[in-house]
This record gives sequence, structure tokens and C-alpha cells, in this order.
Amino acid sequence: MNSIAKILFMCLFYQAAALIPPKFQWKTLDFAWPGSERQSAMSNGTYIAENNMPTGIARWKDKLFITIPRWKKGIPSSLNFVYLNDSQNAPLHPYPNWEEGCLTSNGAAASNRTVVSTFRVHVDRCNRLWVVDNGVTEMSKDVRQITQPSILVFDLKTDALLKKYVFKDDVLRDSSVLTSIAVEIVGKECAKGNAFAYITDMGSNAILVYSMKDDDAWRVENHYFHFDPHAGVYKVGGIDFYWSDGVSSGTLSQPKKDGYCDLYLHPTSSTKQFRMSTKLLRDKDAPKEDIFNGVEIIGDRGPKSQATACDIDPATNVLFYTQVCKNGLGCWNIDKQFNEENTPLILSDCTLMEFPNDVKADREGNLWILSDRQSRFLYEAMDFDQVNFRVLTSPTSTLIQGTACEKKSIFSRLSGSVGKELKSILIRAIKGKILPLVYQ
Ligand SMILES: *[C@@H]1O[C@H](CO)[C@@H](O)[C@H](O)[C@H]1NC(C)=O
Ligand SMILES: *[C@@H]1O[C@H](CO)[C@@H](O)[C@H](O)[C@H]1NC(C)=O
Ligand SMILES: *[C@@H]1O[C@H](CO)[C@@H](O)[C@H](O)[C@H]1NC(C)=O
Repeated sequence: MNSIAKILFMCLFYQAAALIPPKFQWKTLDFAWPGSERQSAMSNGTYIAENNMPTGIARWKDKLFITIPRWKKGIPSSLNFVYLNDSQNAPLHPYPNWEEGCLTSNGAAASNRTVVSTFRVHVDRCNRLWVVDNGVTEMSKDVRQITQPSILVFDLKTDALLKKYVFKDDVLRDSSVLTSIAVEIVGKECAKGNAFAYITDMGSNAILVYSMKDDDAWRVENHYFHFDPHAGVYKVGGIDFYWSDGVSSGTLSQPKKDGYCDLYLHPTSSTKQFRMSTKLLRDKDAPKEDIFNGVEIIGDRGPKSQATACDIDPATNVLFYTQVCKNGLGCWNIDKQFNEENTPLILSDCTLMEFPNDVKADREGNLWILSDRQSRFLYEAMDFDQVNFRVLTSPTSTLIQGTACEKKSIFSRLSGSVGKELKSILIRAIKGKILPLVYQ
């Protein structure tokens, strides 16, 4: 087979048509520069278009947040947003604004609202934006620590900084890379400020727990937060690479009867899904053995099913996760058993979804997916004459329709033959054939 035929052969197309055209797409990321700043930023190296690769998204009302970690030089701002009503190649706006979103000309943080480098962010139901900032620049080469790693919480209605928590050295390691943040709000009220954040430290295989009420953080370790040596090989966009990344993403269920949620989590280099009650995570003094035994393996998605990110859609109780090696998206209804049959690949497209990096459900029943060709960016070269970055969106109900992630029907919940018989009676009733059946 020639190589084009091979690529076509390797491309799977599942439902991708439902997502066409992408909501946003870019060859390179550009910004909504004030005045003539773009030209001077390009000439002094503050902006090097090719070095900007997005890794995270989150939607709030008319904004879609887009994060750009500082892998390389020339990234004006790490935390940005586009307006949903803007064009398909919308320019990015630094958040909270140009002055504070960017570093100063000496490369320092402009204020306590400056996010230096973040991978992913979280919007909670209290209209707050949670950001975990690694505080570094030029991660891929001469890494420099600009600020201590921290959590920033913004009020999205006013853009005010509600909270900034700076991590103490004892919860971090030299290899720490903080990749995602999930937030549990305790009780119904937002104003009480009783919330916990669960941050994945992919680089040092840990979950950092932050209590907003106590303004304190601690570190939780477990063997299952490490990578699985059987799942360290990747091939995406025709590039082979090897990753030993640990726990990189977590998402929370709705609160259970006992008042605690389950944190669903997974390392990147793994095909397994894990679960842990926040009862253990929230207890700073939980005994080591309890933590050791507190992580449950709930199943395996099968070969080549590594995921970078996951999120639970509260409307459908479905966990969505990226499928990096399949250029696609998988799902699992958390009320069903976790096995290969119940974790289908529901989207796949090697053009639109080459390296799906982040997935988020918003509060209006929509799913948002970011694909970014990360393997080309890190290990080869990107072709900036092509579209490299895409944001796709669809209602979650449309995505899961007719798949194993849909809610169980009444019939399949009734067990075995009783269910089947009842179904046939109902079908006959609907068709107006109930009488003969009754007299049978
Ligand atoms: C480069 O130019 C931009 C845009 O005018 C400016 O904001 C920034 O401070 C300059 N940076 C340096 C290092 O001079
Ligand atoms: C897009 O939305 C923003 C914020 O809601 C608003 O300021 C702007 O006028 C809108 N633009 C268009 C073209 O409707
Ligand atoms: C951020 O800095 C401002 C000005 O220095 C200060 O008034 C404010 O309290 C700080 N906010 C937080 C959340 O640390």
C-alpha cells in the first residue's frame, strides 16, 4: 500500500460528521492585540506564533477558556479565552486582561492575577474558574520557575481573584507537573466557600488536595497513580513516542448518599480506570493503609486506550475521555458495569481529532473537545499551512444516542425472559394487537 492509502486505511470515521464543522479551528493561535502591539511583540520575541499550542479548554457562558502551557519562548499569555460568538479562527484574549495576563518585560508575573503556565482549568457550578499554575516558563528546555506553583480561583462574574493558594514545598517534588484540577463543593451554598480541589501531579504521581475553607493543602500518594509499563507506547499522527506519565486527570461524580463524591481518575500511560471516594482524600490525617487500599480499579478499556483527560457530564452521568491513540473520544455511563462493551469509541477522525487533548462537559449539556496535534508539536514539526488546533462541540445527548453510554432502557433493566415477554406484549399493544395476546 502506498502511504496515502495506508493513512486512509488507518483512519476510522465514527460519527465525526456530527461535529463538522468545528466550532473553532486555527493554523496558529493569534491574539486580540491592542493597537500595534502585535508587530512589536513579534519583533521582540514576546510572541512566536509557532510556539503556542493549546492543551486545555473550559466553557463558561459566552466564553471558552483556552490554556497554553509555556513549553517554549514566545507565549504571550497562558490563560486566555475566545468569545463563543466570534469567528472560527477567533483571536485569543488574555485573562483576566492584557496587563495581568502577560508577564512583565523582565519576565515576572504582573500581579497576583497573572497565571504563568497552566495546562487545564475547571469551571464550577458557582461561576468560579479554578486554575492550577505551575509557575514555570520554557518547560521543554531551560525551565525557569517564575512563581511558586499555586491555585487561583476567579469569580467569573467580576473577574476578581477570590483566592490564591501558594503550594508549600513539602507537597511538591522536583518532578511535579500539575496537570488538572477537579472541584467538589460541599453543601448547596456557594457563599460558604466550603470546597475541595483535587489536583493531579502527573510528574510525581500524586493527588494534591486543597481545602478552601482551611486554606490548606496536602499530598496523597498511591501505587495506582503511577504509569503502567504495558501502556507506555503511543503512535499518534504517524509519530511513535513513549510516555511514563502518571495520574493526569480526575473528575467527580455527583455527591453520594454519604455526602462524598467519587473521584474518577487515571494516569495518562494506562488503560485502566480508577475510583476513590473523596471521604479519604478530604481527611488530611487518613491512615496510610486506608489510602493504600482506598483506590479501586474499576476496569480496563482495552489496548491502545490511553487517555489524557476525562470529564463527567452531570446531565447524563456519562464519563467522557480522550482516546489519544485512536484520535477519538470514548465514553462510559457510570451507572453501568465498566468493561470493553460499555466503553465504546463514539467519535474518531484522524484529521479533526488528531491528538485529542482535553474534553469538558459544560453546564448546559454540551461537550467540548480540543485536538492539538501535540505529538507533532513536541517531536517533529507542525505544518502551519494546515489547521492544527480544533475545538469541536456537540450536545452530550446526541453523542451518546444509540451507544452503550445511553441510560439503560426500562426493558434492559428488567432481567432476562420476563423483560423480553413484557417487551413483546408492549410492542403488540402499541401495534393494536394486544387482544389476541390476552386471549392466548
Ligand atoms: C515586547 O513588546 C510588547 C508589545 O509592545 C511589550 O508589551 C513587551 O513589554 C515587550 N517585551 C520586551 C521584553 O521588551
Ligand atoms: C459577542 O459577545 C460579546 C460578549 O458577550 C459582545 O461584547 C460582542 O458584542 C458580541 N459580538 C457580536 C459580533 O455579536
Ligand atoms: C492580590 O493583590 C492585591 C493588591 O496587591 C491585594 O489587594 C489582594 O488582596 C490580593 N488578592 C489575593 C486573593 O491574594
